[in-house]
Amino acid sequence: MTATAALDPRPSIARARRAVAQLFRREGLATPELDARLLVAHALGLDHAALASQAARTLTAAEVDAIAALAARRRAREPVARIIGVKEFWGLDFKLNAATLVPRPETETVVEAALDVVDRSHGRGRALRVADLGTGSGALLLALLSELPLARGFGTDLSPEALGCARDNAVALGLAARASFLACDFGSALEGPFDIVVSNPPYVAHDDIASLAPEVRVFDPRLALDGGPDGLDAYRTITMTARKLLSPESVLVLELGQLGAIERLLPAAGLVAIGGPRHDLLGIARALVVKLLP
Ligand SMILES: C[S@@+](CC[C@H](N)C(=O)[O-])C[C@H]1O[C@@H](n2cnc3c(N)ncnc32)[C@H](O)[C@@H]1O
Repeated sequence: MTATAALDPRPSIARARRAVAQLFRREGLATPELDARLLVAHALGLDHAALASQAARTLTAAEVDAIAALAARRRAREPVARIIGVKEFWGLDFKLNAATLVPRPETETVVEAALDVVDRSHGRGRALRVADLGTGSGALLLALLSELPLARGFGTDLSPEALGCARDNAVALGLAARASFLACDFGSALEGPFDIVVSNPPYVAHDDIASLAPEVRVFDPRLALDGGPDGLDAYRTITMTARKLLSPESVLVLELGQLGAIERLLPAAGLVAIGGPRHDLLGIARALVVKLLP
């Protein structure tokens, strides 16, 4: 059944929402109601409150077509965030493009771990230097700058399109004066020391990409996913260059990845993990704080 056929010719907003949700449920999508609400709201240009207050309003034929077009894209497994072009991360809206990963909620664990380190030294009011290696939409760097009013930072990426998106996000969030973006291989063009280095690098083993959900496999950029034959290529590069980016007081916070394998890379790079990994809301080891070996 097509998305248009599933909708009455002139349904109310509430009815259209229910029909789209039902379509998504039949497709086995994980969050059919939420997806339907977000896409109907986006098609109509309404926020959450307006969607509720206008629930009984009858849609025009053009509005039905607009909803059906977005529903068809979601049925083809395009993620909602890509369809609407924006994803919330750390309470901030991040614009996306085809070259940026959709920031994941679990990546907020990296922000939490970095802020914990800052708070332990009462550093929120200090002029900290922050680096985000593989910045994508700028999510990690800009989330940190939003919490650290005197901090400045660099985001790096190999993708000029991703860097353009990150720059736009910095402007939209009022953080552009403190955020710089540059094209290079992780930290290769940066001059340390930084107080905090964060990275959520590509970490899917090459052969595992084929078995990812289509939302990720088809729509996330390959450069953001592919961690090489064993998923560790980026960690090898980042840990081997960490020495020039860190001082004895500073930290590198890595999103994981494979905990044990990454821990085994640390000694050869002159690094040591501080404490155990930090877990995300699903209880998965998600972030590791690392520093220079004394
Ligand atoms: C998993 S994504 C993370 C994006 C963003 N930091 C986030 O958490 O949403 C990895 C990012 O690293 C970038 N990347 C891949 N290889 C890179 C390299 N050699 N040097 C710099 N960035 C790289 C990708 O383009 C992508 O933006």
